[in-house]
Amino acid sequence: MNHWNRYEIPLQGKIDPKNIFYSFTPKKVIFEIGSGMGEATAKIAAANPDIGYVAIEVHRPGIGALIIRAEELSIRNLRIINADILDVLTDHVDDTSIDGFHIFFPDPWHKRKQNKRRLLQPDFIALMSKKLKPGGEISIATDWLPYAQEIERNFAANPDFAGGVINRPDWRPITKFEGKGISKEHVVTDFRYRKL
Ligand SMILES: C[S@@+](CC[C@H](N)C(=O)[O-])C[C@H]1O[C@@H](n2cnc3c(N)ncnc32)[C@H](O)[C@@H]1O
Repeated sequence: MNHWNRYEIPLQGKIDPKNIFYSFTPKKVIFEIGSGMGEATAKIAAANPDIGYVAIEVHRPGIGALIIRAEELSIRNLRIINADILDVLTDHVDDTSIDGFHIFFPDPWHKRKQNKRRLLQPDFIALMSKKLKPGGEISIATDWLPYAQEIERNFAANPDFAGGVINRPDWRPITKFEGKGISKEHVVTDFRYRKL
């Protein structure tokens, strides 16, 4: 089996999160949206071998980088989907079948006229709610304060969730992307929301 086949899931038909890991049944399955170069993804997966992780990323070179990291660390609790998360959730995953989402540094779309392209808008939050199991959690980090404020407003307006801003969780590794933001003195905001 080549490395890509070991990790990549083709986007066809329904994906049953519990049954996509070859050698084990994970106790939970977490979807990471926009895994980028996979730095955080690989470290988190290696540190939690009993949890299954599904990385969804539109940018194919990032997936190649994640596969190299995963092979170096002999990670087997990771699958990867090269697609838009909207398509994945809308057409390929059953409702109440996901235990959690990780969304680290979603594209901030700084310019006002691009704000509407941000991922964490009310409709997408409602879609994640549908796909999460009750008690499922969403972990988010952003280094763009106006986006952080929008995230807080949008979750507060959705009665399916409890939660809000938290201290930086020690299990979330610092990525190169985050390091760049910190060197520009961007403040990082972390959130955790739980589906009621
Ligand atoms: C700013 S980067 C952050 C990457 C990584 N999470 C990190 O912390 O270094 C955002 C990533 O989200 C991906 N992305 C944006 N919209 C997406 C979508 N609709 N579905 C899947 N991935 C998406 C982008 O390609 C990009 O790699």
